[in-house]
Amino acid sequence: MSSSEKKDEKKEDPIEAAKRKAAFRAVEDHFRSDMTFVGIGSGSTIVYGVEAIKEHLRKNPPPPNHMNWFVPTGWNSRKVIEEAGLLPLGFDSIPGDSMLEVAFDGADEVDEELNCIKGGGACLFQEKLVACRSKKFICIADYRKNQKRLLTNWKSIPIEVAPIAHASVLRELRILGSTDPKLREHSLAKTGPIQTDQSFYIIDAPFKQLYTSLDVKNGKDGSGKDGHWSVEALAKRIKEINGVLEVGLFYGLNGDEAQATGLKGGQKPV
Ligand code: 5RP
Repeated sequence: MSSSEKKDEKKEDPIEAAKRKAAFRAVEDHFRSDMTFVGIGSGSTIVYGVEAIKEHLRKNPPPPNHMNWFVPTGWNSRKVIEEAGLLPLGFDSIPGDSMLEVAFDGADEVDEELNCIKGGGACLFQEKLVACRSKKFICIADYRKNQKRLLTNWKSIPIEVAPIAHASVLRELRILGSTDPKLREHSLAKTGPIQTDQSFYIIDAPFKQLYTSLDVKNGKDGSGKDGHWSVEALAKRIKEINGVLEVGLFYGLNGDEAQATGLKGGQKPV
């Protein structure tokens, strides 16, 4: 099979089609050609987001002498930006007090309050840096990612940790009620722990389904006493563990959403 046939086959895949549709809708609703700083996340969905931005800029060129800068959340994300012919700008080169107008990113799971689990691709630290420096965080999620509560289909929380501390973080996570947290390892040929762009490790920590803040308002405890945590309480508690750089729970980030409308398998269209 030629590479162009392979590409066509990928595009026809219903899941790829849903990711693409969600990404194009997110860009149509939230990107403008006169924006200066735009965050670009990591993963396979954001590739379609970059394609949509490129297409948007082709149809609607920026004002004369205006530059659009795209801030990556890791090496892969930078490569996607560069390959699209867009201008990358390192997070540490964003001038002074400037904010990003918007950051686009994918997610592993999204709950009904738009809290997300992120880090399936091991980029969560830089993803959170960029998201928190943005006036608006747009999470592009196709229908598979959409759940009432986090930890429904996606079973564990990615946590970025200092290599030297990984064993003590695993221990602390078990005390917090995580059942069998594990260091993420390379599969097959490569052995040993996966390293992030910061040369840190990733721990995947399974917990019981997480309560939203609405659940807590409605009387659920969410403090972990009975093994059930709310998203916010657990994210804060894990962040306190020595050796943890970042937690793959994103909440309260000025959320907005763009989801695929071409749904199947009994999902309701949004
Ligand atoms: C990487 C991430 C990704 O955004 C997340 O894993 C979604 O990836 P995909 O779009 O491939 O499903 O958080 O760390």
